[in-house]
Amino acid sequence: MTAARITVNGKEAPIAPSAPHTTVLDFLRERGLTGTKEGCAEGECGACSVLVARPGVNKPTDWVPVNACLVPVAALDGQEVVTSEGLATVQAPGTPPALHPVQEEMAVRGGSQCGYCTPGFICSMAGEYYRPDRCAHPDHPGADTGDGGADAEHGPNGFDLHALSGNLCRCTGYRPIRDAAFAVGAPTDEDPLAQRRDEAPPAPVATEYRQDDRAFVRRETLAETLRLLRERPDAVVVAGSTDWGVEVNIRSRRADCVVAVDRLPELRELRVADDHVEIGAALTLTEIERRLDGTVPLLAQLFPQFASRLIRNGATLGGNLGTGSPIGDSPPVLLALEASLVLADADGEREVPLAEYFTGYRQSVRRPGELIRAVRVPLPLSPVTAFHKIAKRRFDDISSVAVAFALDVDGGIVRKARIGLGGVAATPVRALATEAALEGRPWTAGTAEAAARVLRGEGTPMDDHRASSLYRSAMLGQSLLKLYAQTTEAVPS
Ligand code: FES
Ligand code: FES
Repeated sequence: MTAARITVNGKEAPIAPSAPHTTVLDFLRERGLTGTKEGCAEGECGACSVLVARPGVNKPTDWVPVNACLVPVAALDGQEVVTSEGLATVQAPGTPPALHPVQEEMAVRGGSQCGYCTPGFICSMAGEYYRPDRCAHPDHPGADTGDGGADAEHGPNGFDLHALSGNLCRCTGYRPIRDAAFAVGAPTDEDPLAQRRDEAPPAPVATEYRQDDRAFVRRETLAETLRLLRERPDAVVVAGSTDWGVEVNIRSRRADCVVAVDRLPELRELRVADDHVEIGAALTLTEIERRLDGTVPLLAQLFPQFASRLIRNGATLGGNLGTGSPIGDSPPVLLALEASLVLADADGEREVPLAEYFTGYRQSVRRPGELIRAVRVPLPLSPVTAFHKIAKRRFDDISSVAVAFALDVDGGIVRKARIGLGGVAATPVRALATEAALEGRPWTAGTAEAAARVLRGEGTPMDDHRASSLYRSAMLGQSLLKLYAQTTEAVPS
């Protein structure tokens, strides 16, 4: 066991004697910080939301809400966490703490009844409260004056309601919670958590946290990590640990060795070159979304539909591709973008087209000891793109089927078509027959209808509790017709 330590609400505490598989949620609750609740233990309710100081997008530090039920506490060795208890300001002895502005708004606007979900909502809301560009986003030009820029999902204060998309409430109803979110002002200059954003977040700490025969390990560099993975090809690699948390909490899995890669600088770069964009495999989806800021439109369409903001604050492309799920949200999009993966091991790197990466159900060409270092998206991008995720709920759901399109249409002719599919086979696949049915043909209703018939026959969709195979096939065809309907006005004929 090592001297791993974590700072919670400004106080440092040893992580020991927690086990390497102990979650941040259990660690906090065992220490009496019971504001952090367990609802689902699998990242779907947000009752466990806490704030973590992370490298910022527009300031040195962002206060990032994450699901404490999914994160191993050892992953936060040397890091800073704030819980709902830490948001209130301590007053003179004998007087109750002063409520934080988001707590105040939730209280006065009736945003809490039984209160079980409330601390989680408070932490997610506080993360958005402290987002540096909240009041100044160009999509919300009146945000800082309160007289414009608002819509159903954005408040006049610039508050993005999607910040709460990972939080469930079962008794208050969401209208008072939205009222509270849209009423919060800007942090004052004296606010200590606002001031904290101007300094660097805690640096990642090399960690070797052992108990009995189990270990949680974080190395400082990619080279050290790859050497470790060569010695321990059985290790479970985690970044946002959104899969790890479910395995531990729901399936009671206990890995002998967990290796964290989320803070490796080599996996956290985002570079735009002349002929490609390279996205580090351990950047969180929120970081990619904010740093690309719409420059890859198909990715911009994907992010809001990928789980919840709480999950996107931890989840990575490397993780989504590494698990090899046939219903992951990113593979259809990345297939349509003709992305490739940079795989690294102790001997060097190789680049593999994503279309050749998956080999079977949750299987890929990635070898033991090999890591996904980056995702490369070639440039230029096809101009006609769409991502259609068919699911029972609009947000925060698993897809029944997902389709991503990237088309070049020039002079009214489809010059190139790339279509990625999820949920229709044991792996994500390209719709090669449909691509062939489109390429070289005029972009007309007749072509779209003929290609939609081909698309309905792609893959071998299954019947399960989410959808029937017939429904899945029908939705594939409808997606292409929808794309045609949405794009015909924008495409020269
Ligand atoms: Fe539900 Fe963590 S307990 S998201
Ligand atoms: Fe009861 Fe939200 S206040 S679940």
